[in-house]
Amino acid sequence: MRIYQAKNYQEMSRKAANIISAQIIMKPDAVLGLATGSTPLGVYRQLIDWYNKGDLDFSEIRSVNLDEYKGLAADNDQSYAYFMQANLFSQVNIRPENIYIPNGMEEDIPLECSRYNSIIRSLGGIDLQLLGIGNNGHIGFNEPGEAFELETHCVKLTENTIQANARFFDSMDDVPRYAYSTGIKNIMQARGILLAASGEAKAEALYKALYGPISPAVPASILQLHNNVYIVADEAALSLIREKGCLDAEEERP
Ligand code: F6R
Repeated sequence: MRIYQAKNYQEMSRKAANIISAQIIMKPDAVLGLATGSTPLGVYRQLIDWYNKGDLDFSEIRSVNLDEYKGLAADNDQSYAYFMQANLFSQVNIRPENIYIPNGMEEDIPLECSRYNSIIRSLGGIDLQLLGIGNNGHIGFNEPGEAFELETHCVKLTENTIQANARFFDSMDDVPRYAYSTGIKNIMQARGILLAASGEAKAEALYKALYGPISPAVPASILQLHNNVYIVADEAALSLIREKGCLDAEEERP
């Protein structure tokens, strides 16, 4: 596990984007596992910037997103498909046929889960999986307590998540109750994993994930068992790790 330290969100975004861009340059048809949320926004902005400067080419890149709300169509502005279009795909030359996101409108859960697992397999697996981390240590929609061996599955959102999402919808009835998510097994089968974290709110989750016991209680803790993980985090996210004296000189990078 390599830990790359950044001063702030902007520097974290640039360092994480550097790792993704190295992957794209080394393997122009790489399969990228992508995430939504506030953490990767700066990473995507940086990649778009380098694309606009002519330094990056997405024309052969394949992308597989981590998750999608069940019941939301791709043109719903709260869907993850919409997020990805708005914040990355529409601004680079990735081909629409190379973009994969769980189909939130598929009612048949086993069908959608096996379809998505088959897609990941038929692409030859994920070369580099980008992850954010939830305050409770979740990755994708793999919430504390879920089995590590799951592949793509349908998650019942916690009451907390439903309440937190309510502000984005016209009525409580419109708030998604379920989501499709790739499982820990899919994530762990990626050849490389890049976890980005920013801000004090992530400090405890990051400490537990990287230095705590490996347990489904902290889903990201499984990453300790992966042999090719890059952690890119800013000072605030690393604050507890530093306070506990866990970060040794070997792990510290300029
Ligand atoms: C997003 C995802 C989530 C987020 C996590 C952190 O596709 O699967 O696991 O990565 O909730 O979210 P932010 O980055 O908004 O703090």
